[in-house]
Amino acid sequence: MTQQPSNPATQQPRVARRLANIELSLIRQINALATPLCVNLGIGEPNVEPDETLREFAVRAASTGSWHYTPNAGTLGLRKRIADGSEFDPKSEVCVTAGTEEALFSIFQAYADPGDEVLVPNPGFLSYAPLARIAGATPVPYDFDPSDWRLDIDALLRRITSKTKLIVVNSPSNPLGSVIDRETLQRIANAGPLVVSDEVYREIWYDEPPVSMLGMSDNVIVVGGMSKSHAMTGLRLGWVLAGEAVMKPIVTAHQYVATCASAFSQSLAESILTDAAWNRTWLERVRAQFREQRETALFSIARELEVTIPPPAGAFYAFVPVPACDTVIFAKTLATDAAVLVIPGIAFGSLGEGFVRISYAAPLDAIGTGIERIGRWLRAGGR
Ligand SMILES: Cc1ncc(COP(=O)(O)O)c(C=O)c1O
Repeated sequence: MTQQPSNPATQQPRVARRLANIELSLIRQINALATPLCVNLGIGEPNVEPDETLREFAVRAASTGSWHYTPNAGTLGLRKRIADGSEFDPKSEVCVTAGTEEALFSIFQAYADPGDEVLVPNPGFLSYAPLARIAGATPVPYDFDPSDWRLDIDALLRRITSKTKLIVVNSPSNPLGSVIDRETLQRIANAGPLVVSDEVYREIWYDEPPVSMLGMSDNVIVVGGMSKSHAMTGLRLGWVLAGEAVMKPIVTAHQYVATCASAFSQSLAESILTDAAWNRTWLERVRAQFREQRETALFSIARELEVTIPPPAGAFYAFVPVPACDTVIFAKTLATDAAVLVIPGIAFGSLGEGFVRISYAAPLDAIGTGIERIGRWLRAGGR
């Protein structure tokens, strides 16, 4: 073929430098391998359907709620509910966002600059490092101890330098399912830099509620949302709580990202939080369902994969060691050969290599069948 002179009008536009080396997450890539025969243990959202009351709340929100813009920070009615029981002023210290992800994005845009460092958990939720990079900052991992996935607080504190702008904490953790104790969280709060405490899994716990960083210090920013607690992943409803001075630039960033969260979702969230009795029962039911699914997962992992892992204290993930050097190849081959989707541990940071994340946000029979297929595939020599 003869070489045509390149036409600038048809050339692929150069992507902004801030997105260089940023790709769709490995989770998306693995999920793209799903076929109708696959058992999906890769998914990060609750297998919980709305009950009648929740659907009624939604009908009410759709039929009587406003479809107009709300204030940037969200309706005052919802902000009051989110601030309930805390010292935070709903007028100036709460911002409702389009999911926790948008809350994180707005915080990073508000505070992280080129040259800044952002401490991120290793292993940890895979958005934190890209969000730091998109803001021009450098993500610096801090380690969990692979023997029991406890946070090495001294190692974390040693990572703090004059460049550290944000420390990201996530308890309960995705992908570890572990929680961080109060004393450790307080030490992080007292360390100096701004802390972003991602508490999106706060309501998904097994033995005792996880400790929140809310109010631990003026430099703590808490984010949360309804994706996991109320299976509302598609409705994009999250929030930020922070002192007024810290909050102001976050609301400014949020305005230019989203203007406001969906008015419908805000109205629905307000109904949910207003009916405290229903909400308590709902959350207990969700926790009971996940408790049963966790037991099935732990039992199957021990029997089929012959490993014992510390029981997750929160969220709905088991982080399981596998006999593979490259867990991306492992997960992709498992998907095509054994029709089971799991997420390679390396997606969550260097310390995740050698592990896969099994989500037990799935029906009991799928958890049993999926883990059994992994075991059979491994015994047949699969890697
Ligand atoms: C730790 C963590 N933070 C934030 C999010 C984003 O949640 P949302 O749906 O509220 O944006 C997720 C979703 O998987 C998560 O696991």
